[in-house]
Amino acid sequence: MFDQLKPQPADALLSLIKLYNADPRDSKIDLGVGVYRDETGGTPVFAAVKSAERRLIETQDSKAYLGPEGDVGFVAAVCDLALDGAVADDRVAGLQTPGGTGALRLAIELVVRNLPEATFWVGTPTWPVHMSILTGLGARVRTYEHFDVQRQAFNADAMLAAAREAGRGDIFLLHGCCHNPTGADLAPEHWREVAQILSANGAVPLIDLAYHGLGEGLGADAAGARHMIGALPEALIAYSCDKNFGVYRERTGAVFAIAADCAAAEVAGSNLATIARNNWSMPPDHGAAVARLILTDAELRVQWQDELQGMQARLSRIRQRLAACGKAGDVDLSHIAAQRGMFATLPLSPAAIAALRERHGVYMAGSGRINIAGLAERDCDRFAAALADVEGL
Ligand code: LMR
Repeated sequence: MFDQLKPQPADALLSLIKLYNADPRDSKIDLGVGVYRDETGGTPVFAAVKSAERRLIETQDSKAYLGPEGDVGFVAAVCDLALDGAVADDRVAGLQTPGGTGALRLAIELVVRNLPEATFWVGTPTWPVHMSILTGLGARVRTYEHFDVQRQAFNADAMLAAAREAGRGDIFLLHGCCHNPTGADLAPEHWREVAQILSANGAVPLIDLAYHGLGEGLGADAAGARHMIGALPEALIAYSCDKNFGVYRERTGAVFAIAADCAAAEVAGSNLATIARNNWSMPPDHGAAVARLILTDAELRVQWQDELQGMQARLSRIRQRLAACGKAGDVDLSHIAAQRGMFATLPLSPAAIAALRERHGVYMAGSGRINIAGLAERDCDRFAAALADVEGL
């Protein structure tokens, strides 16, 4: 049987981790996979997470199954954190999921199974796994240009034109904040315009909120999503706690279906639970239990928010430092200050990306995406010089 299978290419982003680890140079710089790094290049466990973990070990008295919806206290706390009462609780069906990827998988599968005619509208470039989940499930997809990498410009006109073309029941995928891979977020007026258009044509937003708190702060980063769900009868939200709680490998996320009324929310929730049961049965517990403890304890919550705010401030500092480098060879870094979150995508050829790796030990995704957090402040000038060195390739 297995000889009938075609080998699959390894995930390019994850393969980069191995390449980086095998490079013996001390001066190497990892701008690959999206994990936060501090000035020393480490990804430490949050102090608030450590405290919550200790408390969990002392108090948890059972590891019996919780059910496909996972930890309902976690789901309620994250719902509050993300939506802050933008809709009545009884219009929201929430489920804990294995990371943001699990949330996306559930949301997309819910649509594809029940409404196979629905088209998913996706702005490009986007996180590659959006496309692979969609195509893997056989979803209908239409793309438009979210960001022009050469010009380093967000294409609001293309986004609004796509929103106008979307039909009733189509799904309009949006990044809630910290756009992955470009850092080019919607301004408040764009959120308002898209919400108005979708409300007129009956299309439904699917908002991927995977970097909440790492752009401008918890309030500002969710403002667009909150506005949209306040303005529309239906929405889907895929939420990840992996980055903003730093619990990556614990796979901690949630999906929310916002329905027109309480009865529809219950039906949506039952469908999500059935799909979850058939995929992974129940989500892993640890990360969600830790996030619940933090979000429901006043002291731990303040500690966590301070730590998160420190990460956000460091990302902004690095953005300012890079932008101050101005032109680095063919690449104008000045746009980076206006972008948000962990990523930027630079207009670099495959040859330049390979030369950065080979000559300078600078590792980045083949798309030209860099993880801003991978740079220490002292590395910014060296990185700009490396970019200038590969000019013209
Ligand atoms: C990233 O884009 O680097 C992260 O979301 C990690 C991943 O799973 O790809």
